[in-house]
Amino acid sequence: MSADYFYTWTKQDDAFHFEMESCFDHTLKLKDGSEKIDLTSLSYQAGFGYSCTPIIDKMSAQLQSLSIASAKADFSLKSRVTKMLLNELGRQGKIFYTTSGSESVENALKMAREQRKVLTVCARNVSYHGATLASLSVTGDWRNKAHKTLDDWTLRIPEPKDDPTGCETRKVIENYGPEKIAAIILETVTGGNGAFAGSEDYWNTIQNICDEHGIYLILDEVICGFYRTGIAFGFHKYPFLKPDFITLSKQITGGYIPFGAVYVSKSRAEFYDQNVLACGLTSYAHPLGLAALEGVFEVIDNNEFKSQLSINIKTLKTFCDKVSTLQNVREVRVHGLLAAIDVSFDPSQKEIFEKGTYLLTGPQRIMLAPALNMSTRDLESGLKIVEDYLMENI
Ligand SMILES: Cc1ncc(COP(=O)(O)O)c(C=O)c1O
Repeated sequence: MSADYFYTWTKQDDAFHFEMESCFDHTLKLKDGSEKIDLTSLSYQAGFGYSCTPIIDKMSAQLQSLSIASAKADFSLKSRVTKMLLNELGRQGKIFYTTSGSESVENALKMAREQRKVLTVCARNVSYHGATLASLSVTGDWRNKAHKTLDDWTLRIPEPKDDPTGCETRKVIENYGPEKIAAIILETVTGGNGAFAGSEDYWNTIQNICDEHGIYLILDEVICGFYRTGIAFGFHKYPFLKPDFITLSKQITGGYIPFGAVYVSKSRAEFYDQNVLACGLTSYAHPLGLAALEGVFEVIDNNEFKSQLSINIKTLKTFCDKVSTLQNVREVRVHGLLAAIDVSFDPSQKEIFEKGTYLLTGPQRIMLAPALNMSTRDLESGLKIVEDYLMENI
């Protein structure tokens, strides 16, 4: 079947696609009547499922009152939610709103380069930071090839797994010239590229390099924010981290509306008190995005949510420990509700889908990122399908 719209990141003739009828709880219902349990929250954004009443109610009420607003407008929802977000991050500063993760990264890069007055940004090869030109230029995975510009502005630094203490990263930066570097951008826990996390020593060195040389630290928490790794934000694991910018999106609204945000530290934000902030979007701080975010706060502040989250974390960990003993499983990494299973064959997303589970696969890898509030029954049924699939491919 050929469609009049594109499928993303694929040859159109080879695209994996399916006809969706509806979605409820944590399940996709297809036109043919079959149901698929979603084990990667689609692309990591639907972290609160498809029937999340607090988010839906806040958005519906917002549609009836202030449905659209000017970027210049002040309104109580905007100030209230911004304070809640700063409070949840545990940082002082300001928020710049966007409509996607790529735009969040784009704006953080613009501000960092403008304030440091140099262009180079350090980034890892095993990374994805977005699809726009600048966010793609710091991205290191296969999608980077498409950007065609700005290569000279990116300095590649080693992977934390190859540089556990950060010493090699320090060497690369010091050899290049720290004064020519505007920022280091890192996913706090790598999302779609395999759930890799640096050690405490690694992050300590990164923060020290930034402090010693005045290089800005941009943490990309587009995937690992909002409890994906079991804690509110990935960087909370290391209280010594002092990011200048934090990029957020996806679970920020549970995927109910395209939305994103950049946290800007107090001193970086103060720069714009007397300098023009040359950043902006038509749908800046959209009231429906803010309403959805307020719904997200209602969800995550609830004790029932927190207890289901911890049950789910244990269920996923138990599953990961079990499959890690299989002959065709090479390595498993799990952080809260984000897991990567490295296998010795190329798993087929389509075959797993036909068995009843939607998830993301890569070369020799299965990714898991179930909704945080999924029922134990749904999570266990979805994981059973994955386990059976792994057993069949030994
Ligand atoms: C870590 C990370 N940063 C940025 C982005 C870009 O977000 P978006 O697709 O909303 O532009 C993604 C998307 O997958 C991501 O995983």
